[in-house]
Amino acid sequence: MSSAVPQINEKRAAIRLVVKPSPIHRWGVFAAEDIPARHKVIEYTGERISRRETKKRCERPLNYIFTLDSYWALDGSVGGSGAEFINHCCQPNIIARIVKGHIIYFSNRAIRKGEELTVDYHFAEKDEKVPCACGALRCRGTINLTRQPRRREAQAG
Ligand SMILES: C[S@@+](CC[C@H](N)C(=O)[O-])C[C@H]1O[C@@H](n2cnc3c(N)ncnc32)[C@H](O)[C@@H]1O
Ligand SMILES: [Zn+2]
Repeated sequence: MSSAVPQINEKRAAIRLVVKPSPIHRWGVFAAEDIPARHKVIEYTGERISRRETKKRCERPLNYIFTLDSYWALDGSVGGSGAEFINHCCQPNIIARIVKGHIIYFSNRAIRKGEELTVDYHFAEKDEKVPCACGALRCRGTINLTRQPRRREAQAG
């Protein structure tokens, strides 16, 4: 891990946040104060890149790309607010909403000071499987989405 601690761009954050080593993966973003439920947390910023460029940059072993729509994505490794260091969890405490073309993270429940912020990356089921280290009770086992068993199958046994 590089010794330089990544920083949060306070102009893009609605809450005091800090980047620290995470038990999930490398760096993570943590609440430096209590966050009420359904509160704006931080905007995800980055270089706006096309589908073609996204495909190229996704080949990097670690990338910071958030898909905005079927054509555009934001690469948080260039001009990122610090939100690009938020790790994935299968039972996350924040969610992304696209508001007028901006990616905004909101809390989906009250978050206590010191908690790590997590979001569900929703990696596609068809993409290369990435084992998940979120540790949540209902962890899917992979960051990728998995098909839910049909109700009858789920009740069997
Ligand atoms: C945008 S980075 C997140 C920030 C990263 N922790 C860092 O320090 O650069 C996304 C990558 O972090 C890793 N990651 C995030 N959440 C994870 C999780 N729950 N389990 C395993 N790896 C995770 C995966 O390699 C993923 O592709
Ligand atoms: Zn998980």
